[in-house]
Amino acid sequence: MRLFSRKMTVSVRTMRADDIEEVRSVGQSAWSDLYSKEFRQNFQVPKRSRKNIEFYMDKEPEGCIVAEVDGRVVGDIFCHVWGKVGWFGPVEVMPNFQNSGIGKQLISVALSYLQSKGCEIIGLETMPETLKNVVLYSNLGFAPDRVTYLMEKPLTGRDRNVSDLHTTGKVLNYGELGAEKALSSVRLLSELSLHGLDYSNEVYYSMKHGTGETLFLLRDESVVGFSLVYTYSTSDGSTNASIRLLVASPSAGSGDINNLMSASEGVALEEDRDRMNIRFYTGNYRTFDILRKRGYALKGTNIRMLHRGNIPANNEVVEIDSWAG
Ligand SMILES: CC(C)(COP(=O)(O)OP(=O)(O)OC[C@H]1O[C@@H](n2cnc3c(N)ncnc32)[C@H](O)[C@@H]1OP(=O)(O)O)[C@@H](O)C(=O)NCCC(=O)NCCS
Repeated sequence: MRLFSRKMTVSVRTMRADDIEEVRSVGQSAWSDLYSKEFRQNFQVPKRSRKNIEFYMDKEPEGCIVAEVDGRVVGDIFCHVWGKVGWFGPVEVMPNFQNSGIGKQLISVALSYLQSKGCEIIGLETMPETLKNVVLYSNLGFAPDRVTYLMEKPLTGRDRNVSDLHTTGKVLNYGELGAEKALSSVRLLSELSLHGLDYSNEVYYSMKHGTGETLFLLRDESVVGFSLVYTYSTSDGSTNASIRLLVASPSAGSGDINNLMSASEGVALEEDRDRMNIRFYTGNYRTFDILRKRGYALKGTNIRMLHRGNIPANNEVVEIDSWAG
């Protein structure tokens, strides 16, 4: 696919393994430029890790897309398909190629891709204070939905003591439960959160790429919750961990959910991570109270914007998820 803009010929195509280094540089330049222009913070944002990009490319090979000018990668976008829910992120364009239509072209190709995968809810998350992004997405037909919160806490030795909870039989890891039961439990729990949502692909590829661990909460032999904990570095040099996904069904009590959280923090400590990041959608607001009581502090907000479908609020389940790539 080709388009012409300001005398440039831009080609948009599927990402290849030999693009990875250029994609890492595009991201670093685009985000460093954004921080300096929008937030007056002058620093080099660390590059996205190779492992992060390789994981995304394996998970959604046709949904990782680059824009090229004269044989050089100048922009990229990553699609994610969670059953009938699809989102994209990050999308990045080299600063000196911005405002020429490349971002819009990448987004339009991503939207077509997500629709071709049968997604009925499609969207993204962005920074509400970045006017350019909010204007860009609004003009492309995205409507603002709810805010997502970023909460964080330092991990200390105190959290380490509870890491052996998953040997009590209440919390099992992916290997202990077995892949088949693990993935089918994730599928059932996702559906409880939102009709058509399916996190099992995310969990499958996370385990395949060794990005961390998946823990399962058991009550009376039934799986009533799971958490996907990332302990790998998503960007170069990062020592943070994150609870990437978590769903606890209404039959999980708050003590059970706390056990799952404690075990998740324990997994991060075992991998010598010193901080836990959690991003979550505020349509599941009970999560906020649980995290606040566990010592997490609110560090930032994003806004979810929807191109298709809508997400009913659900306070029955406790859930952690975000559409930040
Ligand atoms: C967001 C990003 C990918 C957009 O890429 P891009 O190639 O510049 O996008 P386009 O040229 O296709 O479109 C930009 C639009 O924003 C408009 N725009 C630019 N600056 C603006 C501003 N300050 N306020 C409002 N609109 C603005 C442009 O006029 C253009 O719209 P138009 O074509 O209708 O006139 C790019 O800016 C980027 O990499 N940003 C840093 C990383 C980032 O924020 N990623 C998105 C995270 S959700």
